[in-house]
Amino acid sequence: MPDTSATPSPGLIEALGNLLGPRGLLTAPEDLAPHLSDWRALYRGATPCVVRPADTAELAAAVKLCAAAGVAMVPQGGNTSMVGGAVPDETGRQVVVSLARLNRIRALDPVDLTMTAEAGVVLKAAQVAAAEAGCLFPLSLGAEGTATIGGVLSTNAGGNTTVRYGNARELMLGLEVVLPDGQVWDGLRRLRKDNTGYALRHLFVGAEGTLGFITAAVLRMYPRPRDTALAFCAVADEDSALALFRRFRDRDESAVRAFEYMSGTGVDFCLRHIEGVTLPVSTRADHYVLVDLASPRPDAALRDMAEALLAEAMEAGEVLDAVLAESEAQAQKLWKIREEHPEAQKREGASVKNDVSVPVSRVPEMIRRCSEALVRMIPGSRPVPFGHIGDGNIHMNLEQPPGMDAGAFLARSHDIMDCVNDIVREMDGSFSAEHGIGRLKTDMMPAWRGGAELDAMQRIKAALDPWGLMNPGKVFPAGGNHRA
Ligand code: FAD
Ligand code: MLT
Ligand code: ZN
Repeated sequence: MPDTSATPSPGLIEALGNLLGPRGLLTAPEDLAPHLSDWRALYRGATPCVVRPADTAELAAAVKLCAAAGVAMVPQGGNTSMVGGAVPDETGRQVVVSLARLNRIRALDPVDLTMTAEAGVVLKAAQVAAAEAGCLFPLSLGAEGTATIGGVLSTNAGGNTTVRYGNARELMLGLEVVLPDGQVWDGLRRLRKDNTGYALRHLFVGAEGTLGFITAAVLRMYPRPRDTALAFCAVADEDSALALFRRFRDRDESAVRAFEYMSGTGVDFCLRHIEGVTLPVSTRADHYVLVDLASPRPDAALRDMAEALLAEAMEAGEVLDAVLAESEAQAQKLWKIREEHPEAQKREGASVKNDVSVPVSRVPEMIRRCSEALVRMIPGSRPVPFGHIGDGNIHMNLEQPPGMDAGAFLARSHDIMDCVNDIVREMDGSFSAEHGIGRLKTDMMPAWRGGAELDAMQRIKAALDPWGLMNPGKVFPAGGNHRA
């Protein structure tokens, strides 16, 4: 879908300034800079201004001005996208629209178990607000201190707790949206049942800002956990990791809040680069898992259950060593080893991410086949598979060989992604499990989603955003709907 948007004129920028005031419009280069590059430093875009409305009405008025001028808009939350989804392109024609100032929690109801939060509320702040009301907002991911409610919904983020609570989509009951022409749709309904025509709210979740701006959402909360247990385990191999998952799931599926896999290589990187991280088990292993259990029942006896299942698994040779957290502080320390994987990988050198999913039963085979193929393709490179084994989503990442030129390694990025994707495809998997398409993976869409599926997406896009002003260059391939 070509970007035919207009260049923002000085008159438009002045009108936006008059509408939003000095806090609502950034134009100084030093203020623009943090909005122009992504967390992975894959892209560096340009823009004449960042629009920062204070509320939905201001956003709607700003969108009307941009739409009337034919100017493209790039929604931005915490800018933690892993696929360059929230940064403008290099033309300098696209205006960045930051939702950061829409950061109020409008309502919270422990009886309905709902929270109405604006798009710019940081995920961590939503978790804290739920906890203060004696509830749980369960979405959890490494970037939760920066990522926003609008961003996690727009990417349909998954993270660590999908295995128990689903993705962001499953935690959303209603939305408020500013459409590409500036109309406001108030769909902030907090109903569990509402079969009244198309479920429009689901269109905007996972749309990555290509259909409109999410300005607020009704989020679904859960009763707060009253019993928890956390185990960090060294396991014999990938199959043992899956077997251990089955042991816990089959005993009490509702207690498994997260079940995460880490390779020995990834944990080594954390030990090397992240301050305060130590190996909690007595000897190094090639494979680890983190088992996080939680229940609203105070008498769930999760620690006893974990001890019993780990003993069985040790006897079966699946678990080599394990430690159970003795306190909340120790639990956080164990989680840190998992959560710091992306940062540790960054510090180790250049790396390529493959955010893939396969049916849960095939995860061990996928990890083995991809690891072997990647090392065959780039001898000395280091596979770093880790992530959400309980829902089938593994980050099949690859670290450069020690000493190799980072640029030369990154020049192979698309070969690396193709190598993994070919295997994942044979296994009925997905090339993007939770990070979305953004700008990075648009060229993969025709091969994976081409034909009727991409055609339907393009029609929806054309219906809601006929001028192509919402986040151009993201999700949709530049070359149209042609299968590779
Ligand atoms: P941004 O990066 O600002 O935006 C993401 C996309 O949504 C862009 O396309 C943007 O245009 C659009 N957008 C943002 N806000 C709005 C809005 N209000 N309305 C419409 N469109 C909007 N993701 C996972 O799923 N699971 C993980 O475990 C995970 N771990 C991560 C760990 C780290 C260290 C980092 C850096 C990222 C991780 N991510 C993970 C990536 C993930 O996509 C983001 O953290 C989160 O979903 C994005 O939120 P954000 O507010 O930063 O959105
Ligand atoms: C995570 O789960 O930590 C991120 O989604 C993975 C990544 O950085 O590749
Ligand atoms: Zn992840």
